[in-house]
Amino acid sequence: MSTIYGVTGASGHLGHLTVTELIARDVAPEHIVAIARTPEKVADLADLGVQVREGDYTRPDTLLAALAGVDRLLLVSSSEVGQRAAQHAAVIDAAKADGVGRIVYTSILGADTTQNPLAPEHVETETALRASGIAHTLLRNGWYIENYTGQAQQYLATGAILSATGDAKVSGAAREDYAIAAAAALLDDADGDRVYELGGAAFSFDDLAGAISDATGTTVAHTPLPADEYTAALIGAGVDEQTAGFLAALDATIAAGELETDSDDLARLIGRAPTPLVDVVRAQLA
Ligand SMILES: NC(=O)c1ccc[n+]([C@@H]2O[C@H](COP(=O)([O-])OP(=O)(O)OC[C@H]3O[C@@H](n4cnc5c(N)ncnc54)[C@H](OP(=O)(O)O)[C@@H]3O)[C@@H](O)[C@H]2O)c1
Repeated sequence: MSTIYGVTGASGHLGHLTVTELIARDVAPEHIVAIARTPEKVADLADLGVQVREGDYTRPDTLLAALAGVDRLLLVSSSEVGQRAAQHAAVIDAAKADGVGRIVYTSILGADTTQNPLAPEHVETETALRASGIAHTLLRNGWYIENYTGQAQQYLATGAILSATGDAKVSGAAREDYAIAAAAALLDDADGDRVYELGGAAFSFDDLAGAISDATGTTVAHTPLPADEYTAALIGAGVDEQTAGFLAALDATIAAGELETDSDDLARLIGRAPTPLVDVVRAQLA
């Protein structure tokens, strides 16, 4: 019997990239179940022969139906921050009821040690996975380089990358590399539970500014600020107080070195060095 692979969040960037990577690795499209809250968003995958099913993390009935017959599932963490632990628990419950054999989950780098304000929901989900008795693979993803390239127009317009990161480094990687790692984790036939700490080569915000300047021909400079000045600058730029505090807390975890790793798990999973910062930036901004 062929293994059936499920991918939640298939309408999102990471989920979609993982489905296409599975196909690139010769998984037959009909052996892939792309699960999306809004199935119409993945009509392109249906056109390729992928099974598309509705799955809303807030509607357990859809999850039970979506996971029927799935052997291995990539649970892409929800984008609805604050709702995620309950949403992920609903997926795990449905997976258990449907007899899913393995769940690969996109967690956060250093989940069990970091002060990152995004971590507690991931820790809760990791705990729920352990309690479920389902074999699982934790992909503790570091930052996407796209978190920064996505803001490039603002950096270019102001000539500055403001941060509260000091000279700390981030082991960021391209979202596509994390998706390739997710596909590799799904295809791994080995038994047992696994934890991967995933990140690319570490770069500072000076390095980021240099890469963006080189790629675009427009000079941007990194301006490190104390956390309170950074928060005030964000509020001055129109960011609401709560979001500004949250962004400053994220930068504090970078300043503390918590989004830097010397793990080579990502390189080992994808079978090559992660795409370097300068290449990702050039491909997206040049
Ligand atoms: N490591 C990092 O730097 C980083 C950065 C950003 C996000 N993340 C995390 O990684 C995840 C994947 O990243 P991404 O770039 O693929 O994010 P994305 O493009 O925003 O995709 C998020 C996916 O979650 C789905 N989703 C949200 N709420 C849902 C619900 N109630 N039921 C079912 N699906 C739901 C979305 O479905 P719809 O299309 O229906 O909205 C979408 O498919 C994110 O969701 C977030 O948890 C990590």
